[in-house]
Amino acid sequence: MGNQNIYNYEEKYSLKGNICYSKTITELCIAPDSYVICENGICLGVYRELPESLREFPCYDYKDSLIIPGLVDLHVHAPQYPFRGLGMDEELIEWLNVHTFPEEAKYADITYAEKAYDIFTGDLLGSAATRACIFGTIHRQATLLLMEKLERSGIKAYVGKVNMDRNSPENLRERDVESAGKDTEKWIEQSLGFQHVKPILTPRFIPACSDELMRRLSDIQKKYELPVQSHLSENLGEIQWVRELCPDAAFYGDAYDRYGMFGGGYPTVMAHCVHSEEAEIEVMKRNQVFIAHCPESNANLSSGIAPVRSYLENGLQMGLGSDVAGGTSLSMFHAMAMAVQCSKLRWRLVDSSLAPLNIEEVFYLASKGGGAFFGKVGSFERGYEFDAVVLDDSTLRHPQKLSVRERLERMIYLGDDRHVSAKYIGGRKVMGL
Ligand code: GUN
Ligand code: FE
Repeated sequence: MGNQNIYNYEEKYSLKGNICYSKTITELCIAPDSYVICENGICLGVYRELPESLREFPCYDYKDSLIIPGLVDLHVHAPQYPFRGLGMDEELIEWLNVHTFPEEAKYADITYAEKAYDIFTGDLLGSAATRACIFGTIHRQATLLLMEKLERSGIKAYVGKVNMDRNSPENLRERDVESAGKDTEKWIEQSLGFQHVKPILTPRFIPACSDELMRRLSDIQKKYELPVQSHLSENLGEIQWVRELCPDAAFYGDAYDRYGMFGGGYPTVMAHCVHSEEAEIEVMKRNQVFIAHCPESNANLSSGIAPVRSYLENGLQMGLGSDVAGGTSLSMFHAMAMAVQCSKLRWRLVDSSLAPLNIEEVFYLASKGGGAFFGKVGSFERGYEFDAVVLDDSTLRHPQKLSVRERLERMIYLGDDRHVSAKYIGGRKVMGL
């Protein structure tokens, strides 16, 4: 599947099937046996009957399949895909040193990167995700190669060359701030020509970025007006370490904010926020910083369980992330199920005042919630970019009658890439029949 060409697409067409999408976090719309219309890559809405004016245009009939908006992975590390499901025996900092950094160092070798990123891109294309915020490695060339592969697949993504210059091995560290700045600017210039894939500034996290590097990146952020992605308040030991490294910062997020890299005017997404303190949450809310909630990773690395209910009540912007290889799977269905399950454990064991998440809520987070990072993305309301995923659940056999709502619920728990039978991104069909 890796390098398959994007199919041609009509300017105006409809898809027919059992359509499910979120309007709000509490309002899941289910339209059985209905039509969703696309014109020039934009959704014109969902109709039970095809309007007269649309009858002359092609209709692709997906019969009894489910049709959902493309899902959004707000946080994933492409170079970590080879060791997914391995080495879950450490907490964050040890896990980075023992498993992650040695793997990421391999991407200095472009032949290795070529093989690994072919696999990653092919598997992402086959999943239910249509958009993603992706970390590469420190290597400019390997990151550009990843961007080329994603561009060819039709997936829309923000991709970052990682910046890091301390507390990491010699072979996975910027040589000095000057060369890091130059290399990063060169990477940005080289990646500005892509249509579907865009650069995002990616300081790895505060422990791996010196003040001087952050200052340089801040200048680059302003010069190119780039969005920003990083990690925040994931692990208690990490947070303590940031206090020691940045004694002047009022809280972890302030160490980004001091350099103008904590939202407020341009999109910023911070992964995890498992242990964010009140002052940090205040600034995230004020600056519209997105949270990428990564429940599977937070369980695997024993980081904890983020207080998602409280973030929702607070009106914070949020979506879901797989955080491979802290997470094992690119499946956003898996991320949704884990978000529900972890929230139940948190409710039972940590704080009974914060109700567990439900199906409507996690479906919203995986579609429209994370989609907002990309603009009008993640819904089938009129005016949204047309990202659609067709799900054939006929292999999940059952003797009883199930409603479309029940079938969607079951997809969240049992669905994976085997059920994805076609995918459209920005109106273009990128896989399937
Ligand atoms: N913090 C800094 N780097 C990483 C990473 O690669 N994965 C996770 N989960 N957290 C990080
Ligand atoms: Fe991560």
